[in-house]
Amino acid sequence: MKNLMVTGGCGFIGSNFIRYIFEETNFDGRIINIDKLTYAGNLSNLKDIAQKFPERYVFQQVDICDEQNLEHVFNVFKVDAICHFAAESHVDRSIVHPNDFIQTNIIGTFNLLQIAKKNIAGFNLFHHVSTDEVYGSLGETGFFTETTPYKPNSPYSASKASSDHLVRAYSETYKLPATISNCSNNYGPYHFPEKLIPLIILNALEEKPLPVYGDGTNIRDWLFVKDHAKAIWKIMKNGKHGETYNVGGNNEMKNIDVVTIICEILDEIQPTKQSRKNLITFVKDRPGHDKRYAIDFSKIKNELGWMPDESFEKGIRKTVLWYLQNKEWVNQIKSGEYLSWIKKQYN
Ligand code: NAD
Ligand code: DAU
Repeated sequence: MKNLMVTGGCGFIGSNFIRYIFEETNFDGRIINIDKLTYAGNLSNLKDIAQKFPERYVFQQVDICDEQNLEHVFNVFKVDAICHFAAESHVDRSIVHPNDFIQTNIIGTFNLLQIAKKNIAGFNLFHHVSTDEVYGSLGETGFFTETTPYKPNSPYSASKASSDHLVRAYSETYKLPATISNCSNNYGPYHFPEKLIPLIILNALEEKPLPVYGDGTNIRDWLFVKDHAKAIWKIMKNGKHGETYNVGGNNEMKNIDVVTIICEILDEIQPTKQSRKNLITFVKDRPGHDKRYAIDFSKIKNELGWMPDESFEKGIRKTVLWYLQNKEWVNQIKSGEYLSWIKKQYN
C-alpha cells in the first residue's frame, strides 16, 4: 500500500485512525483523506497531522456519492488501497431522516467498489469499516460472531448491512481484495457530541439534563477508539481477503452505568454543589432500540493477535479529560449544526 485513500477521515474514528497510522505505525506511504465535511466532519481534527506530514497527508473534499469526482481523485493520486469509514453514523438521525443514510452508506460504498473494481489490476485492498449493529439485538446471553445472521433494526444498521453485502459480493464475484470489520461502540477523543458519551460529558459540564433513553438498561460493548484503529490496521496488514472480523471491547455496560460513571468522574474533578447524577433524566425510548450488543472477538484475537489495550476505567477518564482540555474544539463543534439538532431533539 503506497497511496491509501481513507474515506470519512475527518470524522470521529477516521481521524483517530489517520492519527494512529502517522504517529504509531511504520506506514511510509501517503494517505489521501476524502471527506464531504458533513456536520460530523471536522478538518481541525487533523490540523496537526496536516502540518506535520505535508508530503504524506492529502485532504480532498469529496462526496463519495459524486462518482466522477471520486474517480478523478482516485486516478490523480494513484490510489492502490481504500479504508472506508465515510458514512452517516447516527442511529437517531437515521430514524428521522433515512435518505442520506441510503445515499452515502449504500450508493457511496457502491461507487467506491465500482472504481476499485475498474482499477483492480493495481489495487491491493478495500477495507470496509462496519458495525455490530448489522446483527440486530441480543437477549440476556450470547455474543455476536462472524457467522451470526444479519438482522438490522434501524435504517442506519440496514444501510450498513447493505454496504457489507456489497463488499462481500465484490470480493466473491470480482475477486476484489477486500476485508470487513464489524465493531462495537467506540468512545474517545473527537467523538461528536450527539452520541451518548460525549453528549453526557458536555451536558454534565454545563449542568444540563442528561437524557437516558427508556429505563437505561440497554447494553453496549464499549471500545476505546485507538484500539479500533489498531484492529483495523492489523486486518489491513494481515487479514485474509474475503474475510470478516468482529472487533469488540469485552466491556458490556448498561447505559445508566456509563452515565453514572461520567457523573462520578466529573464530580471528582470539578465538584458542583450537588452531584451531577441529579441531572439524569429518563426520556422517551428510541424506536426499535436494540437491547444488547456483545461481541465475540476470538477470531481477530486468535488469527491476528489483536486484543483491546485500554480498560474502560482508564479510557473513560482519558476521554473526560480530553473534553475538559479541548474547549476550543468543543466550542467550534457546538457552534455548528449540532446545536440546532440537539435543540430540535430535546427542547
Ligand atoms: P462520524 O459520523 O463521526 O464520521 C463520518 C465521516 O464521514 C464524517 O467526517 C463525514 O463528513 C464523512 N461523510 C459522511 N458522508 C459522506 C459522504 N457522502 N462522502 C464523504 N464523506 C462523508 O462517524 P464515525 O463514528 O467516525 O464512524 C465511522 C465509520 O465507522 C462508519 O462507517 C460507522 O458506521 C463505523 N462504525 C462506527 C462505530 C462507532 O461507535 N462510532 C462503531 C462501529 C463502526
Ligand atoms: O455499535 C456500534 C454503533 O455504535 C455504531 O455503528 C454507530 O455508528 C454509533 O453511533 C453507535 O450506535 P449507538 O446507537 O449504540 O450509539 P449512541 O451513542 O447513539 O447510543 C448509545 C446508547 O445510549 C444507546 O443504547 C442509546 C442510548 N442513548 C443515546 C443517546 C444519544 C441514550 O440513552 N441517550 C442519548 O441521549
